[in-house]
Amino acid sequence: MQADGKSTTTAVVLAAGLGTRMKSDLAKVLHPVAGRPMIGHVLAALDGAAVERTVVVIGDGMAGLANAVQPLPTAVQTDRLGTAHAVLAARDFIRAHPGDDLLVVFGDTPLITPETLTAMLAARRTAARPGVVVLGFTPADPALYGRLIQDGDGALTAIVEAKDATPEQLAVTLCNSGVMVIDGARALDWLDRIGNANAKGEYYLTDIVAIARADGAAAAVVIGDADEVMGVNSRADLADAEAVAQRRLRARAMAGGATLTDPQTVYLSWDTQLGRDVVIGPNVFFGPNVSIADNVEIRAFCHIEGATVGPGAVIGPFARLRPGADLAEGVHIGNFVEIKAATLGAGSKANHLSYVGDSEVGAGVNIGAGTITCNYDGHVKSKTVIGDHAFIGSNTALVAPVTVGAGAIVGAGSAISKNVAAGALAVTRAEQKEVTGWADRFNAKRRKDKQDRKKEG
Ligand code: UD1
Ligand code: CA
Repeated sequence: MQADGKSTTTAVVLAAGLGTRMKSDLAKVLHPVAGRPMIGHVLAALDGAAVERTVVVIGDGMAGLANAVQPLPTAVQTDRLGTAHAVLAARDFIRAHPGDDLLVVFGDTPLITPETLTAMLAARRTAARPGVVVLGFTPADPALYGRLIQDGDGALTAIVEAKDATPEQLAVTLCNSGVMVIDGARALDWLDRIGNANAKGEYYLTDIVAIARADGAAAAVVIGDADEVMGVNSRADLADAEAVAQRRLRARAMAGGATLTDPQTVYLSWDTQLGRDVVIGPNVFFGPNVSIADNVEIRAFCHIEGATVGPGAVIGPFARLRPGADLAEGVHIGNFVEIKAATLGAGSKANHLSYVGDSEVGAGVNIGAGTITCNYDGHVKSKTVIGDHAFIGSNTALVAPVTVGAGAIVGAGSAISKNVAAGALAVTRAEQKEVTGWADRFNAKRRKDKQDRKKEG
C-alpha cells in the first residue's frame, strides 16, 4: 500500500521450470505464441493489470531468458524444489515491498488476461481482506491439477495436489490455475512454514491456503475461464494455446472493422495492426510488426512480416512482404513479388514476379514483370534508388548500387549497372537481327527430314 492508501502489487512470475516435455534447447516460456514469447504475453497481462513491480524467477543457466525479460529483474532458483521454493527465490524482492499484495503467476500460461488479474487483485481488496485469493477453473479433464477444497459454506480451506488427493478429493472438479494473490505482509512468514512432506517431496505453494487459514486469514476463489489458464507443458499444448490466441486475434480484427473472408485461415501476430475496411482473403499469414492502413485489400496466400502498408494498397495474391517493406498509399503488389527493406511511393506498382530489396522507389513508378534488384554481390548489400514515375521494363536486372532517375525508362531485358539520368532511356539489349524467310526454310527442312525417316523406317 502507498502513503495515499492506494493498494500496490508485486508480481512474481515463475519460470524456472525446465519444460522437459517440450524437448527443446529453448527455455519453455520463450516459445512463441502468436509471434511473441509466452512470457511476453504474461508480462503484458501484468502491465494491463497495472502491476507496479515484477520479478521473474528463472533457473540456473537461463541467461537467454534473463535477457529476454530485461529490464525486469530476475531471481535465480538454483534447485527446483517446488513452486513455494520458487517464490522464495524472490524473497529479497518481496521483502522490499511488504505493503504490496503479492501476485504469483506462471510464465507458461500465455493466455491469462489483464481483466482476470484485475479481478483477482480486486478480490483481495474487498472488505473481507482475504489473505489468499486463488484463481480456480473447471478444466475439461482435471487430471493432474490441484483440487480446490471448500467447506460447507463454500469457503476455500485447502488445495490438494492430485498426487496427494484422496479419491473423494479427486472427484472435485474445481481446480487450481496456479495464479494467486497473497497478503504481502504475511507471505514470507507463510511461505517459510511450507514443508515438503508430500508425494513429490516438493515445497508446494498450494499449501499456503491451509497455512493462512490456520493463521486466521480467509481464502477466496475467483473463477476463471479454462482457456485462459491453460498451462503449456508440451508442443501439443503450445499448438492448443496458439489456436486460442488466433481465435482471439481474429475476433479482435473483425471487431475492429476488418473483413476476414475465411478467418480460420488467417494467422495474426499479437501486434498486427489493421485499419478499417481492410479486406483479408483466405490463407494470409502475418508475422510480427505489421501495420496495415485503412481500405487495404490483401488477397489470398500472402506472407507479411515487419511491413507497413499505406491506405488503399492492394497486395497479392501470393505476395511476400518482408521486414522493412514500407508501402505508401495505393501501392499495388501482385503475385510472386517479394519486397524487403524497400519503400515504395504512392501509387507505385510491382504486379508480377519481382524482387525489390534494399530500395527506395518513388511515387507512380511501374516495375515490370520479372524485375530484380540485384542487391547482394556475395559480400555486401547495396541500394537501388528509382525516381518518381520511372518505368522499369520487364525482366530488368538493376545491379545495385544504382539509381534510375525520375521519369526515366529502362527497356525490357536490360541489366542496368550504371546510373540512369532522369528522363533518359536506358537499354542494354543486343541489337535485334532479322533474317527474311529463315524460319519458313528451317521448318520446311525439318518436316522433310521427318518424312524421309518415316519412309526408311
Ligand atoms: C501447479 C500447481 C497445481 C496447479 C497447476 C496448474 C503447485 C504445487 N501445484 O502444478 O495445483 O493445478 O500448477 O497448472 O503449485 N516452477 C518453478 N520452480 C519449481 C517448480 C515450478 O519455477 O521448482 C514453475 C514452473 O516453471 C511453472 C510453474 O512453476 O511455470 C508451475 O510448475 P509445475 O511444475 O508445472 O506445477 P504443476 O505440477 O503443473
Ligand atoms: Ca504445469
